[in-house]
Amino acid sequence: MKSGAKRLLGRAGFDIVRSTNNLGGVDDFIPFEATMRAARAAGLSVGDHIDQVMNGTPGATQSTIDELSALGVFAAKPDTVLEIGPGSGRYLEKTLKECSPGRYEIYETAAPWANYLVETFGVVAQPTAGSSLAPTPDGSVDLVQAHKVFNTVTFLCASRYFFEMARVTRPGGRIVFDVMTETCLDPAAVRTWATQGGAGHGSYPAAMPRRTCVDLFATLGCTLEASFLAPMGIASTEVLVFGKGA
Ligand SMILES: C[S@@+](CC[C@H](N)C(=O)[O-])C[C@H]1O[C@@H](n2cnc3c(N)ncnc32)[C@H](O)[C@@H]1O
Repeated sequence: MKSGAKRLLGRAGFDIVRSTNNLGGVDDFIPFEATMRAARAAGLSVGDHIDQVMNGTPGATQSTIDELSALGVFAAKPDTVLEIGPGSGRYLEKTLKECSPGRYEIYETAAPWANYLVETFGVVAQPTAGSSLAPTPDGSVDLVQAHKVFNTVTFLCASRYFFEMARVTRPGGRIVFDVMTETCLDPAAVRTWATQGGAGHGSYPAAMPRRTCVDLFATLGCTLEASFLAPMGIASTEVLVFGKGA
């Protein structure tokens, strides 16, 4: 589409984004209007539609939430939650079924999705610029989470967010995110990605060494408490759960 036409449609309220191959993740996020329409037509919540229909991994979001619940992440009754890249809100919605935070902040670059989450769930959308959580004060958040975000952004974006996540977490709080570590990348998995991973557009799927995360967060006062695999498209990603020292 010519850029002038894009600008006009953009002004008319349409969000023009590159479509994805929807193999379990996206680099440019999925288009808001079309996704909402398709979910409505299928009689599914938008999160379940993404799990079941778009990603072909029914129950994937719930299974991660169940693992986090079993680890006591929600039993700690987080009063302030911060989520980076919530997108459609499929983890946000299920998080709100597990706990009742007084404040839920989001950092989301896709404006139509951020607006939808603010209107639907009453969350607070913070100005999102690259990889900064600057509007959030130090030590103010009980649970910081990001799902399926750090395998869609560059190494620099993810690592800058890591420092910020550790900064805003209060002592005793938790940090939860997934990365495609070496645990997810045995030769068979690499072959699967190489042969079936679509066009490989953007940064998806970006890898991040597990030890890099563990060692970095240790220097920031955060200890790895648990980890588990979660499905991501045609393969998997590793969810890491850190606790910040009191
Ligand atoms: C693959 S989607 C995952 C969305 C959601 N967490 C889920 O699992 O359904 C990645 C999300 O991160 C958002 N995003 C990309 N870059 C970002 C950035 N620098 N800061 C915050 N969000 C970002 C995208 O707009 C998108 O919503």
